[in-house]
Amino acid sequence: GMMGGRHGGNGMMMSKTVSDVATSQTTTAAHPLALPKRLKPTQATKTKVSYTLTAQTSQMAFKPGTKTKTLGYNGNYLGPVLQVRRGQTLQIKTRNQLTRPTTFHWHGAIVPGKDDGGPHQVVAPGQSKTVAFKIQQPAATLWYHPHAMGSTAKQVYQGLAGLIYVRDKQSDQLHLPDKYGVNDFPVVIQDRSFTKNNQFDYDAAYNSDGTKGNTLLINGTFNPYIRVTTKLVRLRFVNGSNARNYQLKLSNGQAMQQIATDGGLLSKPVAVKTLKLSPGERGEVIIDAAKFKAGQPVTVKNGQQVVLTLRSAQKKVSDGQLPANLLSVPTVNTTNAQHQTLAFNGMGTMVSINHQQYSKDRIDLTAQQDRPQVWTLKNTGTMMGGMIHPFHLHGVQFRILSINGQAPPANLQGLKDTVALDPDSTVKIAFNFKDRGIYMYHCHNLEHEENGMMGQIKVS
Ligand code: C2O
Ligand code: CU
Repeated sequence: GMMGGRHGGNGMMMSKTVSDVATSQTTTAAHPLALPKRLKPTQATKTKVSYTLTAQTSQMAFKPGTKTKTLGYNGNYLGPVLQVRRGQTLQIKTRNQLTRPTTFHWHGAIVPGKDDGGPHQVVAPGQSKTVAFKIQQPAATLWYHPHAMGSTAKQVYQGLAGLIYVRDKQSDQLHLPDKYGVNDFPVVIQDRSFTKNNQFDYDAAYNSDGTKGNTLLINGTFNPYIRVTTKLVRLRFVNGSNARNYQLKLSNGQAMQQIATDGGLLSKPVAVKTLKLSPGERGEVIIDAAKFKAGQPVTVKNGQQVVLTLRSAQKKVSDGQLPANLLSVPTVNTTNAQHQTLAFNGMGTMVSINHQQYSKDRIDLTAQQDRPQVWTLKNTGTMMGGMIHPFHLHGVQFRILSINGQAPPANLQGLKDTVALDPDSTVKIAFNFKDRGIYMYHCHNLEHEENGMMGQIKVS
């Protein structure tokens, strides 16, 4: 099965321990976690930072033997981290060197509709397009990926996704762990299936309710480990999978301190034993590793699957803090709000929102810039129980007002751009559009999105 494949492969490479693969918890063999490069700006001033991002075809040796054909940004798989400070204009020259059309969508960014990279902003093969927008949102881990109609799911599956780190003064002053690859790690979680010939065969793996894989890749690494050299370790989890939901736990039963949601820091750290992430969601945690012992690895797990192994150094230094209070989360005043109700329905190719499937020529909703919005999101389930639909809205960060009439759990009381709608549940959110244009909202199960579980709103 899936564990056998992963551990078996590693056992061969280490040649020593071939443990009971099905129950093995402490993996003896692992690869250092790949760290995406932090992209060098083509230009940087106090007020502006400019990058060039190229979507390209490539290949990568994930496994011994034949290389896997991949897509990547400026490299062979995934993309580099774009870093920007709040208040700076982020300018990105996007280039499409694929053989197919693509778009460049900035997931979680508060951005004018015309620069958002939705399905209307296609960059044809061989073409390039420059976007620029001022970053007016708090420090957060955002991400980017393609969004062209009909090819989003496949292009993401083949490797197109990358991170944007927004930083700001207020969060710097908290002295959280922030040394990239030392005590602050991006952890992009994806599941993939490989053919016998080591290829991602999207079409063969395709499932209309979400294409999943039996192998986890973390930042593109099989069975990765990090060396823990500090007492506090920050992990920025990103669910970059097409459709798989994760429930992350530490193997030693210890709670993680969640410090951030999709759009920025929580008001205070929240102890979580299980961190749930649906596709598109992010969660940043700090792990207190002070008592971790060398030679006794602790793992981050999803069920029985190992996501990441933490290998403690003999001696760990203090570097970075976990303050009792973080930053206050921006609130939404809902007086005079405009109300909308969206019902998420069906499965497979029958998925819909308010009984309609996406049409690029139809504007489903309208809103005024800056007018508070309160949306009621319903997952109506199905006779067979139904599925989680991760709801995502472009161009904003929202607050969750309630889940099934109750206040959301403390770790969902931050800024969000994606929220899991469980079967038969109702989630209320509030926000306002700070910019104008046409924005998408959709299920972030990418196959549902492609099957039409998406709509568009025009903000003017
Ligand atoms: Cu992350 Cu409309 O997407
Ligand atoms: Cu869905």
